[in-house]
Amino acid sequence: MSMHAAVVRTFDHPPRYETYELPEPTETDEALVDVLAVGLHPRVRTGAAGRHYISTGTLPMIPGIDGVGRLPDGRQVYFVSPDDAWGSMAERAVVDLRRTVTLPDDVDATKIAAGMNPAMSAWVALRRRVPLKPGQSVLVLGATGNAGAMAIQVAKHLGAGRIVGAGRHPGRLAELPGIGADEVVALVDDPEVTAERLALAAAEVDIVIDYLWGEPATIAMMALLTARADRSRAMDWIQIGSVAGPTIELPSVALRSANLRIQGNGQGAVSTRAYLAELPSLVEEIDAGTIDVAVRSVPLSDVEATWNAPDVPGRRTVLIP
Ligand SMILES: NC(=O)c1ccc[n+]([C@@H]2O[C@H](COP(=O)([O-])OP(=O)(O)OC[C@H]3O[C@@H](n4cnc5c(N)ncnc54)[C@H](OP(=O)(O)O)[C@@H]3O)[C@@H](O)[C@H]2O)c1
Repeated sequence: MSMHAAVVRTFDHPPRYETYELPEPTETDEALVDVLAVGLHPRVRTGAAGRHYISTGTLPMIPGIDGVGRLPDGRQVYFVSPDDAWGSMAERAVVDLRRTVTLPDDVDATKIAAGMNPAMSAWVALRRRVPLKPGQSVLVLGATGNAGAMAIQVAKHLGAGRIVGAGRHPGRLAELPGIGADEVVALVDDPEVTAERLALAAAEVDIVIDYLWGEPATIAMMALLTARADRSRAMDWIQIGSVAGPTIELPSVALRSANLRIQGNGQGAVSTRAYLAELPSLVEEIDAGTIDVAVRSVPLSDVEATWNAPDVPGRRTVLIP
């Protein structure tokens, strides 16, 4: 028995649409779903290039870390793929029923597939890692990406007071006040200008949600701490993504002269049990429209051409088998 799937045979080439053997459930908690929609998240791209920190390096592989599928009993579920090498970008996928959430019948499957991964980052960060206290102020560094824009909405929904969004895409920045940002900061090529703007807008924030790392985080950290009125007041820096670089330069004085607390949020930093516990409430909020999710749907058969093509800003690409 076979199916169509996106198949990675070498890490230096995008997946190809091929026929592939049908996976079979082997454990009692497993079932085979008809896959309805799968998000092409940054994590999926790095995994298919063999570059993600939990990649096993197994080839061939089917990419896809989550998705929406239909169980044999007709229920639609959101699922997190149980296997790194046998992912969700296929007509059928094995799911671990303990890693599924049953969806309402009339749910928009593409929105769930698009939104869960990016929204989960701030949702878990602000509920599990550094639980947000009502009224606290938040800076989202990298707010123009899908996850960053959702972080603004998540922070607002969870009761944040003032929210500042910083990013470099002017069109996307202009949209952020409409989804909850009180102020936006344009990150520009001149580090001094960027530092000055960040200091003015965000020196007093309680929490930074950082999708960028690299140079912008280096600049932002020193700019905020230097301008902070009371440096002994805690600033919680939650490292989530590294689209601007894998490392930062952190002068030791930043840690001695201020109450800076840096931690990350991701698989490993938060237990699987805690992640799974957060899935149903996040499904509810996306389904209810509390968190706006914009989708670009593409047939799975176009996976190879879609893989390295630029994303539409603000829209998560979703592959439909
Ligand atoms: N740890 C977790 O649980 C978790 C969960 C979800 C996502 N993430 C990570 O979070 C990051 C963002 O994910 P996403 O889904 O939002 O991706 P995305 O939708 O592709 O957004 C990435 C954004 O980063 C911006 N960007 C790229 N390089 C930049 C730079 N040097 N300076 C400023 N902005 C820059 C891009 O904006 P431009 O338009 O300006 O290029 C784009 O808007 C990724 O690293 C992802 O792996 C982590």
